[in-house]
Amino acid sequence: MTSLQDYLNQKSTNTAVNEVILTIAEVGKTINHLLQRGAFADILGEAGNQNVQGEEQKKLDVIANDLLLEALTDCNHCAGVASEELDDATPANSEGDLLVLFDPLDGSSNIDINMAVGTIFSILPYQRQGQTATNADFLQKGDAQLAAGYLLYGPATMLAVSTGDGVAMFGYDPQQQEYLLIKDGVRIDEDTKEYAINGSNYRHWQQPMQQYVDEVIAGKSGVRGKDFNTRWVAAMVGDVHRILCRGGVFMYPFDSKDPNKAGKLRLMYEANPMSLLIEQAGGSSTTATQRIMDIEPNDIHQRVPVILGSKNEVEYIEQLHKNALKA
Ligand code: AHG
Ligand code: MN
Ligand code: MN
Repeated sequence: MTSLQDYLNQKSTNTAVNEVILTIAEVGKTINHLLQRGAFADILGEAGNQNVQGEEQKKLDVIANDLLLEALTDCNHCAGVASEELDDATPANSEGDLLVLFDPLDGSSNIDINMAVGTIFSILPYQRQGQTATNADFLQKGDAQLAAGYLLYGPATMLAVSTGDGVAMFGYDPQQQEYLLIKDGVRIDEDTKEYAINGSNYRHWQQPMQQYVDEVIAGKSGVRGKDFNTRWVAAMVGDVHRILCRGGVFMYPFDSKDPNKAGKLRLMYEANPMSLLIEQAGGSSTTATQRIMDIEPNDIHQRVPVILGSKNEVEYIEQLHKNALKA
């Protein structure tokens, strides 16, 4: 069995990146342990305050954030960290050559119902050694990521990671307290019959997205000529994990519910890291009109529409959007 450490040593020559990934994986063990204890670890329920995005924080959002913040600011290679739960970036070791962004706890609405949640991370280069990292240093395109990944706390805890050369999946064995390689070179089928979207937003979507969902619901009797199946974990980590395992398409598209939000998901610590994994596994990731990892960010918390997964299905959805522009 190959451990995460052995895998990284063989795969990536960037020892700083490897160390940051191992640091996050260590924190993942603690979060896993807290989730296993659940109510008995006093991690359920509300924290009683709001984050910068105006979302109610859960206790575990705050706990996971603090654990990651502490571990990463302690890590010599890390020049700064940015989190969904913190208004601004936190500078760390100014001699470090890496920046780390994270969603400490993805799928917060699942915590109190004992369903899958996750942690998402993105690692970027830092070029201003010796100077204090600021928000502006983080505003790099997804293509600049040196590595990205997630921890999925489901029935078993798993870690998926890419250092820009394919995707590997590890399982956490609580007996050995180790992450062990389960699959390297993960590939996503180009075609699928499975889609994930929160259909309750239908009336807020643009016409091409409504058309797409109408078509897949029509199934065999419609233009697609085949039946589709819906899945929605309500934690992006869970949906992306399913797609890496058996294909599919995940969408949190543009909607007009809140004019200040171009979709729900955040570019820098949700969409970009997941896009790296999806593309490295042969899938596609887009806003519907632009490749996600091409976006020039202007805010560490900016939101972006996301459509990702099986290549041909994502391209089909992009085509519907192109057709609508021509019409
Ligand atoms: P977070 O818990 O970090 O705020 O992210 C939740 C996101 C994403 O993980 C998930 O796909 C989506 O919100 C769920 O949205 P709905 O509440 O609309 O189902
Ligand atoms: Mn999230
Ligand atoms: Mn979160």
